[in-house]
Amino acid sequence: MSEPRAKITPHTLRQRRGGEPLVAITAYDAIMAHYADAAGVDIILVGDSVGNTALGLESTVPVTLDMIAHHTAAVARTKPRALVVADVPFAEAHFDFDHVLRSCQRLLQEAGADAVKIEGGESLAPTIARLVDAGVPVWGHTGLMPQQVKQLGRYKKFGLTPKETDQLIADARALEAAGCFALLLEMVKPAAARAVVDAVQIPVIGIGSGADCDGQILVCTDALGLTPGYVPGFVEKFADAGAAYREGLAAYTQAVRGRAFPRP
Ligand code: KIV
Repeated sequence: MSEPRAKITPHTLRQRRGGEPLVAITAYDAIMAHYADAAGVDIILVGDSVGNTALGLESTVPVTLDMIAHHTAAVARTKPRALVVADVPFAEAHFDFDHVLRSCQRLLQEAGADAVKIEGGESLAPTIARLVDAGVPVWGHTGLMPQQVKQLGRYKKFGLTPKETDQLIADARALEAAGCFALLLEMVKPAAARAVVDAVQIPVIGIGSGADCDGQILVCTDALGLTPGYVPGFVEKFADAGAAYREGLAAYTQAVRGRAFPRP
């Protein structure tokens, strides 16, 4: 019998930079976590995209720490081999340090996350350095930060000008120096994403940021064809689970109404 594969840690992920591309996916409950882990993904992110996907909210802004803790606990209970990362929700990382540390403590101790993800650049690096010092593994998130959508006015691509690219590089370097074990780079023009990858030593995992990142992440409902509404153009649908749900539920409805289920 083959040995069970070892649990993925921030340390082992970091060491894999330059090797096979890293695979990350979001999950919000035990069922999705089960399938993601069975598929062999490296990271399961309990993203604040839970707001738009599972909770019917219009953006990630209304997502609270309680919501993330609740969904993270469901994912962590499946004891996946993949690294379980919990998103730090809107504004949480900008309170005073004791508050931020307590929020991360809750996600790690109570919900069972292995690490947290925090949206922010250079200006948040001092807070992240203190969290890392306290033993909190942090995955940095820069480029498009959807928690800033009210401030930005829309979801937009980054790295479109030399100034924007220089800022992305400065953010990435500051987050690496603060001790982030990896970076998530969202909606960055591929050439700028390449420049960020070249500027740091930690793995850069992209979403809508081209093929030169060290790995990729997608929102599970988008990747599986479950999202009923708008899906960003960079997404590829790897299954049509939406059709399977529709057909299965229509067959069930028909079977009950036609007295074919339950069988005598
Ligand atoms: O919350 C989320 O799903 C994210 C995506 C960028 C993967 O952060």
